[in-house]
Amino acid sequence: MPPGRWDSPLVDLFFSNQFLQITTTVPSTSVYGFGEHEHPTFKHNMDFVTYGMFSRDQAPTSFANLYGVHPFYMCVEPDSNAHGVLLLNSNAQDVTLSPNPSLIFRTVGGILDFYLFMGPTPENVVQQYTEAIGRPHMPAYWSLGFQLSRWGYGSLDVLKETVDRMKHYDIPYDVQHFDIDYMERRLDFTYDKVNFAGLPEFMKEMKKNGKHNVVILDPFITKDEEPGTYRPYELGQEMGVWVNNSDGVTPAVGRAWPPGDSVFPDYTNPRTVEWWTQLCLEFKDVLDYDGIWIDMNEPSNFMRGQYPGCADNEINNPPYIPRISDRSLAEKTLCPDSKTYLGDHYNTHSLFGWAQTEPTFNVVQQATGKRAFVLSRSTFVGSGKHSAHWLGDNFSQWKDLRRSVVGILEFNLFGIPYVGADICGFNYNTTYELCLRWMQLGSFYPFSRNHNAEGNSEQDPAVFGDAFAKISRATLRIRYSLLPYLYTLFYESHVYGGTVVRSLMHEFTSDQETHGIDTAFLWGPAFMIAPVLEEGARSVTVYFPEAQWFDYYTGLKVPSAWKKSYATVSAPLNKIPLYIRGGYILPQQAPATTTTESRLNPFGLIIALDEQGQASGSLFWDDGDSIDTIEKENYFLAKYTFSKGSLKTEIVKNGYRGADTLKYNKITILGLKLRPQAVSLNGRSIRGDAVSYEMSGKLVLRISAPLTQELNIKFY
Ligand code: NOJ
Repeated sequence: MPPGRWDSPLVDLFFSNQFLQITTTVPSTSVYGFGEHEHPTFKHNMDFVTYGMFSRDQAPTSFANLYGVHPFYMCVEPDSNAHGVLLLNSNAQDVTLSPNPSLIFRTVGGILDFYLFMGPTPENVVQQYTEAIGRPHMPAYWSLGFQLSRWGYGSLDVLKETVDRMKHYDIPYDVQHFDIDYMERRLDFTYDKVNFAGLPEFMKEMKKNGKHNVVILDPFITKDEEPGTYRPYELGQEMGVWVNNSDGVTPAVGRAWPPGDSVFPDYTNPRTVEWWTQLCLEFKDVLDYDGIWIDMNEPSNFMRGQYPGCADNEINNPPYIPRISDRSLAEKTLCPDSKTYLGDHYNTHSLFGWAQTEPTFNVVQQATGKRAFVLSRSTFVGSGKHSAHWLGDNFSQWKDLRRSVVGILEFNLFGIPYVGADICGFNYNTTYELCLRWMQLGSFYPFSRNHNAEGNSEQDPAVFGDAFAKISRATLRIRYSLLPYLYTLFYESHVYGGTVVRSLMHEFTSDQETHGIDTAFLWGPAFMIAPVLEEGARSVTVYFPEAQWFDYYTGLKVPSAWKKSYATVSAPLNKIPLYIRGGYILPQQAPATTTTESRLNPFGLIIALDEQGQASGSLFWDDGDSIDTIEKENYFLAKYTFSKGSLKTEIVKNGYRGADTLKYNKITILGLKLRPQAVSLNGRSIRGDAVSYEMSGKLVLRISAPLTQELNIKFY
């Protein structure tokens, strides 16, 4: 490692049983990462700030330790090389960032197990990091569609009204979530046969309409039902699957959603995995779910420790308590001296959600026979291999809209690219304008779900009337049309391990100005989203790094005077500013109401040329939900290159027969310097109405060509 990247004077090293501390200088203040928190900015403020890490049921609040733990950061050095560092440690810990610049790591257990990732580019750092911790899973195509949720529909009738108005406005929508109100008295593995009577049939109906269903499950099981009536508890009791008290024998008993008191499955125990697998498989016969949402798995407990409270000992009250909320390791969870199969809860607490994730992923695959969808609230290093994540119980406030961008950028560093925030905000009532701007931004979250808390006014995109619905529909149709590009990015992230959503800094690292930008972000290298983040704003100030940029809506070149500078662009209520970067080819497909339908539509290519008249890109395609299509080579992969006035496709893999019936029907080229005199496709000229040219240098070709044949388009 070159000198200066990590420089740790050994006098600052403490290594004792319950307190380990190490200090290091870092080569610059361009430091990113550490989670899970609600950071105000993507690039850290290093002015003596301390962030605690210990998983906790905690709505996003500045400086609070939230649901997951990611002791990973990336630093961009003054020469623009980047490196990453992981402290693989699951104990309660904190890190102090100081302006020298330096970092102080403190943890209350384990060892100082550091991993260094040498980059040199930010993307390389994330690729190397996920090589070590596990590549992100390949999401099902349908799960890239828009998703609707709320806690507190209260009844199937209310839910149906929502579905009907989504249909009325023809708003793209693929997935319906079922929060705890579908359950009978909030008991896992049941459904409410009164308020949600007919739920199994309804879910089947949704599937017939090309939609998918996700059900929530919580990790606490009541022990207080009538004997003989609640199998999840009785089977678990018989199998001995619970987290135990410090005696290692009696189950820890706390209190959560279900009536009575609850016990907590210990997912680090293989017997618990067996128990969970069996129940999830059986439940599939009751409710035909496509995915499982695992919530409250920090684990959350509505008390400080279990009954009768935590003993006063060094494990429960360590000499040093990191900078975590309430300065207690037992608040809202179990006592640290509780016993799990893997060891004391003191050491395994922050692994609870992580340990639940892989077994849930496996059982969803087993139950559905398809690619799994698992959405976990608590995550740890490596969770992205099996899970999506949402940023938790945010608030319907402009600040939360703004900070969600930081959150999705960070989780892309953590190897969990399939991430989003609750669109329109979870806590509090939303407002028309906030929700509209959030629908626009959320249309570009990798995981795009509108979700709301019990008691708040409805906020699905169809509830605000005509104008709102039309704007949401139009924005989601842009998302849907670009899903082939997004899906290809997920394929690349799954195989090569990089980010899906990334900051401008990732792509323009040597431009120092980009280091602090977190109000806009990119899908891959090529598509910039510059959302409106402030109330009342009808314009956005956008930074355009050195590249040829095109306005997504008009295809017009962004003026050269804007390059490497800020420009104010108009953003009326019906518009989210979007830009395409020259040098890239983006595959697209005509949108529809669900991905089930859109996947059959014709494809297009947007070829955005750079200054040299060149561009490249690729398309990954498979059936969208089979397991291991890549390993089994059941996929289609094309690479596109445009140079010297001609587009070539190279079919790298043609292993998916479902691609045979698909076609290209539209090629859009942006940034042509001159109108071509003639155009040909595979040697045959294209003429007349099939070619339209605009003075801006935009050319649209209407063609009909099979997806699985190589395209050769020439301009003369
Ligand atoms: C907490 C979760 O964060 C939230 O999304 C969910 O709606 C509630 N639990 C109720 O299940």
